[in-house]
Amino acid sequence: MNKITYGRQTINQDDINEVVKALNSAAITQGEYVPAFENALKEYTGAKYAVAVSSGTAALHIVYAALGLKEDDELITCPNTFAATSNAALYLKAKVKFADINIDDFLIDEYKIKSLITDKTKIITPVHYAGLTCNMEEIKKYTENYNIKIVEDACHALGSYYKNSKTGSCIYSDAAVFSFHPVKHITTAEGGAVLTNNEDVYKKCVLYRSHGMEKVNFKNIPDSPTYHEMQLLGYNYRMTDIQAALGISQLKKIESFIERRLEIAEIYYDAFKNSSQIKMQKKYDDRFNSHHLFSVLFENNSLRDKVYYYLKENNIFTQIHYMPVNKHPYYESLGYNYKDTPLSYDFYRRELSLPVYPLLSNEEVYFVIDKINKALKVS
Ligand SMILES: Cc1ncc(COP(=O)(O)O)c(C=O)c1O
Repeated sequence: MNKITYGRQTINQDDINEVVKALNSAAITQGEYVPAFENALKEYTGAKYAVAVSSGTAALHIVYAALGLKEDDELITCPNTFAATSNAALYLKAKVKFADINIDDFLIDEYKIKSLITDKTKIITPVHYAGLTCNMEEIKKYTENYNIKIVEDACHALGSYYKNSKTGSCIYSDAAVFSFHPVKHITTAEGGAVLTNNEDVYKKCVLYRSHGMEKVNFKNIPDSPTYHEMQLLGYNYRMTDIQAALGISQLKKIESFIERRLEIAEIYYDAFKNSSQIKMQKKYDDRFNSHHLFSVLFENNSLRDKVYYYLKENNIFTQIHYMPVNKHPYYESLGYNYKDTPLSYDFYRRELSLPVYPLLSNEEVYFVIDKINKALKVS
């Protein structure tokens, strides 16, 4: 059996041909492919505006900045996420508050958000962990009487739905952020995007993406033929046209990618449905999980570790998502304590992300299941 990892990209000859075409085009950055990819993302999600950038982290950074997050403001998210979700707030010198998760659906507990809201709360960032959307309707309710913005960290959740709205349509939020890292639903190698229906947020994100440099709507009077002016302190977070060409080609195939992820998820659900030692992510009738991850919880930490090592001996490389962000030494140095969010810590001790990606064959999925069952039997 080949080496099996928890996730990987699906690249075929179409993708390679598109990348080669982009490489042969006049502009390999700041050319035509990036706007075309943004149009494809808008069409796919239903949002009015899209800004493609160099990573999901860059997308979080610029959308927080565009929403005005600044020193002493507070942002609420959960610890069960990749550190970038909260790091991007720290870049802007804001304070992060961590709401614990719900141990049934592995998502931020919307009722815990409520107790953390103060008059300094500027943004709530729910994380659609593994591809399952958070309870957006309830979270949106908290923001209605305050000037609090919602940014969906949808890095795991391209193609998912909450009720009838596709993730990225921003029906329940001010913006949504995606990552196109190779383990995600589609890839541009590195890459990310902000989706929004808010024109002002869109325009600011465009400025932040490229040094804050404006080439059309000037504040001062142009005094040279190639006049452009810097209007805010931005970054170079641009996506290249080579990456965007790959993104366009990948997005064309997303339905089949998700279909295959779902087939694999259903095999796992079926295999472990009667297990007393394995708990799987809750399913909701009105939410569609696009399964970036297939995340399971074992009865206890030693059982999880035993399965992890047994799978590794059999050339199956699973992952643990995530160590709570507030347990990283950097966050501890800022005064955070993972014991304040005990369910996220308990989750971290028992979680394993099983292999799920379109190129995984049924034979490989059953091989993984067989090895998990064998590891559980020897315990
Ligand atoms: C939940 C979450 N947020 C943010 C990011 C950051 O995305 P990127 O790796 O593209 O910077 C990731 C990527 O791993 C993620 O999983």
